[in-house]
Amino acid sequence: MTKPRCTDTIAWAALQGHFEAHGRELDLRDAFARDPARFDAFSVQAPEVFADLSKNLWDTKTRRLLEELAQACGLEAHREAMLAGEPINSTEGRAVLHTALRAPAGQGPFSAEVHEVLERMLAYAERVRDVTASGITDVVNIGIGGSDLGPQMAVPALEAYSHPGLKLHFVSNVDGHDITSVLKKLNPATTLFIIASKTFTTQETMANAQVARDWFVANGGSDTAKHFVGVTTNIAAAAQFGITETFGFWDWVGGRYSLWSAIGLSLAIAIGAEHFRAFLAGAHAMDRHFATEPLHSNLPVQMGLLDVWYRNFHQFGSRSVAPYHQGLKRLPAYLQQLEMESNGKCVDAQGRALGVGTSPVVWGEPGTNGQHAYFQMLHQGTDVIPVEFIAVKTPTHAHPDLHTKLLANCLAQSQALMLGKTAAEALNETAPTASKSLDQAVLARHRSFPGNRPSSTLVLEALTPRSLGALIALYEHRVFVSGAIWGINSFDQWGVELGKALCNQLLPRFATGDATGLDASTAGLLAKLKS
Ligand code: F6P
Repeated sequence: MTKPRCTDTIAWAALQGHFEAHGRELDLRDAFARDPARFDAFSVQAPEVFADLSKNLWDTKTRRLLEELAQACGLEAHREAMLAGEPINSTEGRAVLHTALRAPAGQGPFSAEVHEVLERMLAYAERVRDVTASGITDVVNIGIGGSDLGPQMAVPALEAYSHPGLKLHFVSNVDGHDITSVLKKLNPATTLFIIASKTFTTQETMANAQVARDWFVANGGSDTAKHFVGVTTNIAAAAQFGITETFGFWDWVGGRYSLWSAIGLSLAIAIGAEHFRAFLAGAHAMDRHFATEPLHSNLPVQMGLLDVWYRNFHQFGSRSVAPYHQGLKRLPAYLQQLEMESNGKCVDAQGRALGVGTSPVVWGEPGTNGQHAYFQMLHQGTDVIPVEFIAVKTPTHAHPDLHTKLLANCLAQSQALMLGKTAAEALNETAPTASKSLDQAVLARHRSFPGNRPSSTLVLEALTPRSLGALIALYEHRVFVSGAIWGINSFDQWGVELGKALCNQLLPRFATGDATGLDASTAGLLAKLKS
């Protein structure tokens, strides 16, 4: 049965009416003044993650209508279909079962296969971690996109849990500067290369794997079988490359959802089997929350619905992520792929043109660094950009003063975005660095802030394997929710194909210089780069 288009539902029309009547003009300062219980009413506690959603431009009615929209769009049925392994990735005819990768043994689809590989991979990780016996000091993950961004995000996030005697490196870019700077730090005798590629055909990964193997042999490395391991769904291609130790996964694991599979091998080596299991368990707890919690208290649902409200009614085109934890420095990059590759689509699952905006631009930097760079624009720029703060209550370092300052900065930013400052307030303040010769009223206008800028704040008790697992699963499901409302297939990525094909056509032209048939710009650039 064809699902109704979100824009054809009664709830959509009601949301449009509500937006015109109250939504556009909602003022957070008034909303808090009117309702002292707003913080509690708009907070959601999910496993490991508390979310304050009260500083967002919505009210009780918006929320109710959004929940009606979710029902009208068949969100719950679509969720059940995903969890049951129906082929909801229709353009590739595949199931979408990353949740099965973190289900306890015996509980999810494909449990036997999943746990067979998981146990083998964790046993292998433990052998590598026995550095006296393995002789390994450095592990290099060669992969790109979903075969890189997950481990590259999670390894620094869980540094406090990592093996002190092992250094983890990541090579993704086909730009030779990437692998060159890594290789010069390595000794072939003590290095393990993980070639991580779902397809084992990706140009960048195959080219870097080749460079790594050549370097290994040229620098006296013997025993390739011991120093190269493959993680892939294409075990035959890995074998052809000369890799004998391989950990498989399945076509029902999307690249950007694959951190929980053997693609997580580098993370498992860094943090060990027990912590990797805790990471999976945290994600599974979030899966259960997503699967069973009513829409109103279901955190991925609430965040996904808010995304639709902002994108399609407020017409916000961007969202900034500000993790106030240095370990989460790669989270924005990870989320870019997760959200923008999943929902950056202009047709729905039936191939019909979508009449509404889809994935926002997702971007950010860890706090407090972002404050001294682009937060100026968030506070006083002409565009409203919702910000998502992530605060972690307990640090793993021994500098409580620094941590208090970090948390105070985090709260101050969301407060400043919401409260703003009027010109009259600015006029009453002293500004020691301001020009004395300027009209004070003019100066006050420069120093005022519009306020009423929305933000969410996620709070973790601590950044642990379990809470990181829950946080990432939360993001996965939230992307699913907005994609389901829009009627998108969030699990294909045809938009990356054209560039790959054109690159393959251009490659031989770099040898010959032949520009026949090229557009004038590309021909001109080819000549410039070859001269
Ligand atoms: O370029 C897009 C993409 O297909 C991603 O979806 C994927 O995560 C990445 O390339 C890497 O693919 P593979 O794991 O097959 O090398």
